[in-house]
Amino acid sequence: MTEFKQRIFSGVQPTGNLTLGNYLGAIRNWVALQKKYESIFCVVDLHAITVWQDPAALRDATREVAAGMIASGIDPKECIIFNQSQVPGHAELAWIFNCVARMGWLNRMTQFKDKAGKNKERASVGLYVYPDLMAADILLYKATHVPVGEDQKQHLELARDIAQKFNSDYGVDFFPVVEPLILGEAKRVMSLRDGNAKMSKSDPSENSRINLTDSRDTIAKKIRKARTDSAAIAGTIEEMADRPEARNLINIFAALSDQTAGDICAAYDGQGFAAFKNDLAELSVSVLGPITEEMKRLTDEKTYIDQILKTGSEKARALSAPILKEVHNIVGFLQS
Ligand code: AMP
Ligand code: TRP
Repeated sequence: MTEFKQRIFSGVQPTGNLTLGNYLGAIRNWVALQKKYESIFCVVDLHAITVWQDPAALRDATREVAAGMIASGIDPKECIIFNQSQVPGHAELAWIFNCVARMGWLNRMTQFKDKAGKNKERASVGLYVYPDLMAADILLYKATHVPVGEDQKQHLELARDIAQKFNSDYGVDFFPVVEPLILGEAKRVMSLRDGNAKMSKSDPSENSRINLTDSRDTIAKKIRKARTDSAAIAGTIEEMADRPEARNLINIFAALSDQTAGDICAAYDGQGFAAFKNDLAELSVSVLGPITEEMKRLTDEKTYIDQILKTGSEKARALSAPILKEVHNIVGFLQS
């Protein structure tokens, strides 16, 4: 009997550097899932331009993110890796979804509110309809599972709503209901300077994040400088509920060492942060060092990366073409 593999889709924006948040919240989990699922991983350049991107920097970042995925262990022979703009179906299906999604649904999206800030009137229209494009990314391939960090949960609920409304408006059972896969002990990696803010590519403080372009020394330094509190490490993670900085470091330790946060608390119960931080710095360097170095090497191999993205986009186009054709048929677009 041939084994049926379910399909996953996920994406990362080529804006700024990949961070430890991208790695632990997304890419590390993709590596574990790629054997079990038919996997499609996308560098989402159409999403990136919802805020201004310098064209040369966008090209570089696209290659760098692809290199980061491969350096982290995504196997381009097993998975499809490509950049979104090379498959026009994403933009095309997003348009159809702009006509399915309701203004009221998009008005509730917290990421738009966060990114647009006080100046909503001056945000791009693209930033507003960004979640429709994200739903299109997934449903263009009828992917059923989407491994992401916790911050993307609301967008995935919207993708489910869009799939269901499309199905019910047109009286079909066409798009699957998408399941988020939010995995691991670091579902939301927080800033190293502020335990209440997400670790992000766009934080002005370099010390708030670990970049996958950081040297071993910089990684160790940033961990040692990370904010903590003066209390000792507790024996259980529950006892650290109101200590966000401390909890964040414990979660990072757990995720990087494939243990639970509870294991780490038990191991360091009653100790201060000095020895813990030394161990975490060493662990981080041993896991991330080889990845950052391989990523740097691959980023310089432009033709190799470009070839992977080209092959990936050809495969992605082939997978999506019959699905998009069927969508046209369902919607009533005349195909002559
Ligand atoms: P982005 O960089 O916004 O394109 O995010 C790409 C992937 O990384 C998504 O699955 C996000 O949920 C995940 N991600 C980004 N930042 C973090 C973070 N601080 N913690 C956990 N996951 C994250
Ligand atoms: N919006 C996601 C983020 O910023 C990136 C993304 C775009 C994505 N399309 C996707 C993730 C489809 C999963 C599936 O993190």
